[in-house]
Amino acid sequence: MSEQTLDTFDVERLIPDFTAPALAQFSPDRKTIDAAEVNTRHWVSHVASPFKPGSDIHLRETCRMFRETFNPYRPSVLDWPKLEPDALERIVSLPIWDIAVQTEGRARLRMAAYAATVEEHEMRSALALNAWEENRHKEVLSRMVAAYGIELASEAPYVFPKDAEWAYLVTGYSECIDSFFAFGLFKVAYHSGLFPPELIDAFEPVMQEECRHILLFANWVAWHRAKLSWWQRIRFELKVAAVWAFLGWERIGLARTMDVEENEQKQDNNFTVNGTQAVSGAEIDLRELMLLCLQENDRRFSGYDPRLLRPETMPKLVRFALRFMREKKAK
Ligand SMILES: [Fe+2]
Ligand SMILES: [Fe+2]
Repeated sequence: MSEQTLDTFDVERLIPDFTAPALAQFSPDRKTIDAAEVNTRHWVSHVASPFKPGSDIHLRETCRMFRETFNPYRPSVLDWPKLEPDALERIVSLPIWDIAVQTEGRARLRMAAYAATVEEHEMRSALALNAWEENRHKEVLSRMVAAYGIELASEAPYVFPKDAEWAYLVTGYSECIDSFFAFGLFKVAYHSGLFPPELIDAFEPVMQEECRHILLFANWVAWHRAKLSWWQRIRFELKVAAVWAFLGWERIGLARTMDVEENEQKQDNNFTVNGTQAVSGAEIDLRELMLLCLQENDRRFSGYDPRLLRPETMPKLVRFALRFMREKKAK
């Protein structure tokens, strides 16, 4: 195994009462995989009452959703299809692998660091499981990178955050932005026919997991907010505003050389804007891409209980921006 896949991150060490999920030892059959896929996308609570943000029901059902939709796939049994030379070249040259691996590396640590500070047991376990899943994403990526001989830049050491809440908010809102666009780009890649379906299948659980992560995050934000006193609330809202300002600044490219923990970023922070052509093989109209992102976003969330809150900022911003984008006239 290459050095890239040797990784010693351990959520259980950071959160002593967390037990990592047990995964099957052997490759599951098709029926088991399909059942897990359905289970991870659909979840409706049997509780009849509304989920008032901050209430015990809201907390319990949010955490239950996260636990019960867990997908037990094991990265080591994923099949990496043999690629034709042009498909291999296309994948190796995508400018995302360093940043993808490092983003997962930071996300797992920040989530675990914040989870360790959460007193409420169920929420702590849910956030710990989220951190564990980020670590699994990193493993999926590391295995793919090794299978296709993609060379990665060495990873700077991951720094334990000084302000765990800030770091968790940065990671959570980043995931809300990135996943929204990733859902659309993933569909573009799927339709392009440029990537083998087996490769798309291997990444599908990761995509849906990001949807669950931001669903958990949106509900954590609402639950957390509702529990704060007025002065804590003011402090929190200022922090959230600062996080959005930081992410905007990062995404327009001003923070290209340094991230929040002073790790160097060598690749593109803005793959969404620049990468459509790389995954589609053609130029795609921005308006069409935004519509596809919205559609995919709605589709991925559609199977979860409507009483759970959804991340709203990106869909709202994009719907607003679409008002100013004219439809391309047919030639
Ligand atoms: Fe992830
Ligand atoms: Fe995630």
